[in-house]
Amino acid sequence: MITVLDLSIAELRKITEVVKEKYSYDFSNYAASSFKRRILRIMELKRISLEQLIEQILKNQFTRDTFLHEITVNVTEMYRDPSFWKTLRMQIPEMLSNRDKLRIWHAGCSSGEEVYSMLILLKELNVLDRVEIIASDIDTSILQKAKEGKISNKNMELNISNYQRSNGLNDFNNYFTIEKDNSVFSKTLLSSVSFREIDLVKAIPFTKCDIILCRNVLIYFNQILQNNVLKLFSDCMFMGGYLVIGAKESIAWCDVASKFTTINLEEKIYKKTKD
Ligand SMILES: C[S@@+](CC[C@H](N)C(=O)[O-])C[C@H]1O[C@@H](n2cnc3c(N)ncnc32)[C@H](O)[C@@H]1O
Repeated sequence: MITVLDLSIAELRKITEVVKEKYSYDFSNYAASSFKRRILRIMELKRISLEQLIEQILKNQFTRDTFLHEITVNVTEMYRDPSFWKTLRMQIPEMLSNRDKLRIWHAGCSSGEEVYSMLILLKELNVLDRVEIIASDIDTSILQKAKEGKISNKNMELNISNYQRSNGLNDFNNYFTIEKDNSVFSKTLLSSVSFREIDLVKAIPFTKCDIILCRNVLIYFNQILQNNVLKLFSDCMFMGGYLVIGAKESIAWCDVASKFTTINLEEKIYKKTKD
């Protein structure tokens, strides 16, 4: 049995280089502490040493998609931080007031719960036909799950409670059909979403959006990467567009901070007011 206590900076650099070489994913600007925890977790689960993990990667015994899925943290829930969704419900009419159509990008959508929450909100506000939604993630398997719209029934109690706390208007169950142990999200609502595999480390500006949500993703990046990604978001945003980040995240110190005005500090909603 292998007991792993820690990894040195040199060891982390080594695995980062191997992963970059083999899979073309660059984790060098991920927050070192959480990246280390995820590598240690893989080693513990598989009961292998770092050398063995590296060997498995080099010999293709560890697929790119499996590695990606293990290294990323996919924890999510519908109407996460209900007070944010309550605020957004009130804010959307103003966000739509000057525009015929809105393009919304969920960057780092994980298994889709954030996107389903948005779809329900837009449907209840009767504006879904005026909105185009892009949902992206680096993790291909989690993106597949998001497209399928399946949520384990075990997680539904929390989702329902969040929905109610966010001032949801309807019977939440109407948006789902039950299939054995899963609740399956409305295919009609889901059809408004374009799911895309986008790695925020490599992404270049590809469109202009009215709202970009990137919640609980930046915390896994170091300041260099956070800065680059926030610049990407600014470049992908119309003047007057809105940026939303996670409760524990901040744009205060980044290069593009001066381009944004704070709309709601507690809910981390910002508006692009300068080019
Ligand atoms: C904790 S989840 C956040 C999900 C959702 N936004 C929320 O707040 O509930 C973080 C997501 O970021 C994704 N992610 C991590 N690194 C990424 C990258 N370089 N590009 C795109 N997505 C990334 C992960 O795959 C994961 O699904």
